[in-house]
Amino acid sequence: MTDWTPQNWREKEAEQLPTYPDPARLEWAEEIIRGMPPLVFAGEARRLKAQLAQVANGEAFVLQGGDCAESFGEFGANKIRDTFRVLLQMSVVMTFGGAMPIIKMGRMAGQFAKPRSSDTETQGDVTLPSYRGDIVNKLEFTEEARTPDPERMIRAYNQSAATLNLLRAFAQGGYADLHEVHRWNLDFVEDSPLAERYAQVADDIDKALTFMAACGITGEKVPSMRETDFHTCHEALLLPYEEAMTRVDSTSGDWYDTSAHFLWIGARTQQTDGAQVEFVRGIHNPLGLKCPPNLEPDTLCKLIETLNPENEPGRLSLIARMGHDKVEEKLPPFIRAVKENGFNVVWICDPMHGNTEKSNSGYKTRRFDNILGEVKNFFAVHKAEGTHPGGVHFEMTGQNVTECVGGAYDITDEDLSSRYHTACDPRLNAGQALELAFLVADELRALKKS
Ligand code: PEP
Ligand code: CO
Repeated sequence: MTDWTPQNWREKEAEQLPTYPDPARLEWAEEIIRGMPPLVFAGEARRLKAQLAQVANGEAFVLQGGDCAESFGEFGANKIRDTFRVLLQMSVVMTFGGAMPIIKMGRMAGQFAKPRSSDTETQGDVTLPSYRGDIVNKLEFTEEARTPDPERMIRAYNQSAATLNLLRAFAQGGYADLHEVHRWNLDFVEDSPLAERYAQVADDIDKALTFMAACGITGEKVPSMRETDFHTCHEALLLPYEEAMTRVDSTSGDWYDTSAHFLWIGARTQQTDGAQVEFVRGIHNPLGLKCPPNLEPDTLCKLIETLNPENEPGRLSLIARMGHDKVEEKLPPFIRAVKENGFNVVWICDPMHGNTEKSNSGYKTRRFDNILGEVKNFFAVHKAEGTHPGGVHFEMTGQNVTECVGGAYDITDEDLSSRYHTACDPRLNAGQALELAFLVADELRALKKS
């Protein structure tokens, strides 16, 4: 790709970018970020791509999860630990049920920028720029808070570095040791209806580990029993930041966006000739493309050709976010178009973004049953089409929030106000996320048998 540079997107039409009032300050922030160390290494992104190629071949499954938007205010070691811990629990449940490797990716350590339906927000007779995530501006409705400030990119970089540092320590420093599987339970999940099911899985794993130890297979000899691979991902949205994080890898000579292992194109920035598509086509990280119900199969094929011209397995994941009531009708034409063209892709189900609604009490929420319904329908469609359902993508947290209604605790509309903390979309709490992991495990088990 000789015609590509990390700056080329600047000549394209760009959606969803903030208007910074002071270009000199923007250049100053970009220069600082260009001088910062990479957050991830090209070799790690290549390794993830190889694991995703296994998924494309039907031999593994993806679990992507984390906040809709990370924020400066909600930052802290316990929050990072709790989200990581629920992802570990979910992955253990899914590995056990599906008997296949689960590739874990956190919407963490860089998931800050948000697309918005409108550039401005009006309250009374005041109109201000929309809130675009803490990497751009502040949520508070004042002119000062809403003015995009490039310095926030530096703060987001620093927070991402600190988050990733802790995630790496958790993944490799003993916390993710399979022998700890009982201890990953969060207090409030312990007295949920799921506790028993999880304890059963943990007991079964203990038994398997004891048996393996008796055969001489231990964590000292097999590192994958005491550590885990954990990758980061976020939407490739705020291009000045992504460009400044993009470097040539000295091993391969290729460009990599070192802000995360995996970057995806969101539903609002997938114009085939747009700036975000132009940017990601030149980086060698594994990529995602959100597939909303209004995407045309022809446009999808064009995007696939642009994003994965070599048809490399593992390079491109299609993240379908249709809505529980649309997936059965809308997903098959996509799958057929991909099959007809022989495209190698990973299929992931995002059951969150097509199922957002306003509750009677006025909160933005999602019904657990609809989320579950979309996941089930996703599996059913792939079964009918003879393709591999390759993964799930959740907005979730390890905190005991009340943002999505339903689930084992049966959170009601009236409950939403008690612990509604998201700055953006409603997330599954740990119990709801674990419940979905059990459903996915059941689906994967059925898949193995069929
Ligand atoms: C998101 O994943 O947070 C998001 C904005 O999704 P989408 O682009 O699919 O609407
Ligand atoms: Co979201």
